[in-house]
Amino acid sequence: MEEAIITTSLNPDIYQVERAKELAEKFGFLFVERNKKSLIEVARGLPVLLVTKNRLEVVFSDKTKLYFHPGMAKIRIKGIKKGQQDIMVKAMGLASGMSLLDCTLGLAQDGIVAQYVIKDGLVVGLEKSKIIYVLTSEGLKAYDEDPDLIIPMRKLKAEFGDFNEYLTSLPPKSFDVVYFDPMFKNTTGKSAHILRLRKIAAKDYINKYVLKKAREIARERVVVKGRKEEIKTLPFFDKIIAGNDSEIAFGIIEGQI
Ligand SMILES: C[S@@+](CC[C@H](N)C(=O)[O-])C[C@H]1O[C@@H](n2cnc3c(N)ncnc32)[C@H](O)[C@@H]1O
Repeated sequence: MEEAIITTSLNPDIYQVERAKELAEKFGFLFVERNKKSLIEVARGLPVLLVTKNRLEVVFSDKTKLYFHPGMAKIRIKGIKKGQQDIMVKAMGLASGMSLLDCTLGLAQDGIVAQYVIKDGLVVGLEKSKIIYVLTSEGLKAYDEDPDLIIPMRKLKAEFGDFNEYLTSLPPKSFDVVYFDPMFKNTTGKSAHILRLRKIAAKDYINKYVLKKAREIARERVVVKGRKEEIKTLPFFDKIIAGNDSEIAFGIIEGQI
């Protein structure tokens, strides 16, 4: 779903109104003056991008919210600093100076961890949902809490786009690693965060054609994250790695596909 209304919280200051108008113009959302209207009145059944004093939120018709936050990225970076192994970093074989194309940026938790590890290298993150792209690209610019996260957040390059098209526009061997973390085909309904993301996320899945293209773009490897059970049934991978106590696995393609 790409349409959304953009408005402010009640009693906005002039900066909120200006920011809402600016985002509406930049991304093609409809700006509605809040006045004293309820969000239901403003929403017209669409998701609402709400510019509050402190942040940008998406509010859904059931009043649940989604906003940018580093979430697990913060904990994972703390672990990496202490010398703990991050299974995604291991699967990608990341090291300082490398380049990564993250084809499914989402709220950039994986992208931030990857950018932290590759330091002067670069993560380019693609996101097909305009609403998620706005939350993430604006959030990456605005976050100002943990210094360990600020540097990778400012460096990571978020792009609005569809991996199906983007991959065909790149010359071979453009990135060291190409990564996919598509939405699960079925949701277990465990995480409220994932359920909210699902409402606005693109649900494109990988297939042989996309992975073949990605393998041409990747100098070293293509990595796909998914449920262990799902990844094991896919015929594409040279190697699968997973934590013992996790239902998540990473499929790795290093050879031809
Ligand atoms: C499971 S989330 C990724 C979460 C992300 N790895 C993180 O750590 O925050 C999948 C994301 O991929 C996006 N997506 C799905 N199909 C896409 C496509 N064809 N091109 C770009 N992004 C896509 C969805 O909109 C969603 O935001």
